[in-house]
Amino acid sequence: MIVDANSPGGIRVAAERILAGGLVAFPTETVYGLGALALSEDAVRSVFRAKGRPADDPLIVHVHDVTAVSRVAELDPVAKVLADAFWPGPLTLVVPKHHDVPDVVTSGLPAVAVRIPGHRIALELLAEVGEPVVAPSANPFGRLSPTTASHVAEGLGEKVDVILDGGPTPLGIESTVLRVSGGEVQLLRPGAITSSMIAEVTGLEPRRVRESRPSSPGQLESHYAPRTPIVISEEDPPDPQRAGLLTLAARPGDERYRSVMELAPDGDLRLAANRLFDALHRLDAAGCDLIIARPLPECGLGEAIMDRLNRAAAAES
Ligand code: TXA
Ligand code: MG
Repeated sequence: MIVDANSPGGIRVAAERILAGGLVAFPTETVYGLGALALSEDAVRSVFRAKGRPADDPLIVHVHDVTAVSRVAELDPVAKVLADAFWPGPLTLVVPKHHDVPDVVTSGLPAVAVRIPGHRIALELLAEVGEPVVAPSANPFGRLSPTTASHVAEGLGEKVDVILDGGPTPLGIESTVLRVSGGEVQLLRPGAITSSMIAEVTGLEPRRVRESRPSSPGQLESHYAPRTPIVISEEDPPDPQRAGLLTLAARPGDERYRSVMELAPDGDLRLAANRLFDALHRLDAAGCDLIIARPLPECGLGEAIMDRLNRAAAAES
């Protein structure tokens, strides 16, 4: 059932479904999340089932304020500085978990991922639920993240009790995931909060870590993948007629492609991040044999965008 988040009682209906143990997709500032009660093992298991997600890929717990954070996790001084600077917002902190958090949420790890999303509808929903809510991106495991309610409906359909439609998500790329421990900051997944923003407030340069499961599954290579093979390249394929093109700005000659998605002709990387998943969803639906993605500059938000493109391309190699 799709419910308009701005209709009277819309958020209430969604909150009640979560409290009853159901699954509710809701907008955040990054992408749509698939929400369920974090402290209910059964509800959390149903999230894994609906997504087809392996049990060793832990979930992010979402809450509406810092008091609620203390129910699930411990923030050390560095984590507190980050929380003050960036919450509510697109930052996830991996920090020591409170014993109330079921092991199924963290895949047995001693640390839990937590964030306060910066989106009015998400915050109202979380406040109305009044309990911590797990919310992975609301897509089938390994597929493109959803930035609209219809992406969620296409990917998960009847597996979700309620899709709370709050329009397209403003950022369009998932949160930055940071592990904070022992006075060190590790970047597990790049996102809208960039390394330089983190260094500026903490005085610590985040260290990019690439680990295999289970300590950070978002780092699995084949993630965020469209069904159509994707290749990152500056070169045109032999037969552009059969290919889709993802590019910052189109060039003369690009009209030979079957389908072209321009992310941001003026080079604005925020706009490019915002359009990335929708552009990939569209190219995937265009019936191409191949998607060519032209590389973007890897500075600022470009790091997060190239991270998602590299993963999508890795699925095919
Ligand atoms: O923007 C977002 O973060 C979205 C919205 C809905 O909040 N959620 C999201 O969740 O992207 P998901 O499940 O698709 O990605 C969660 C990522 C995993 O890829 C993993 O790297 C990391 O968070 N993660 C979760 N729990 C962790 C833990 N205990 N230790 C290390 N990494 C963890
Ligand atoms: Mg995801």
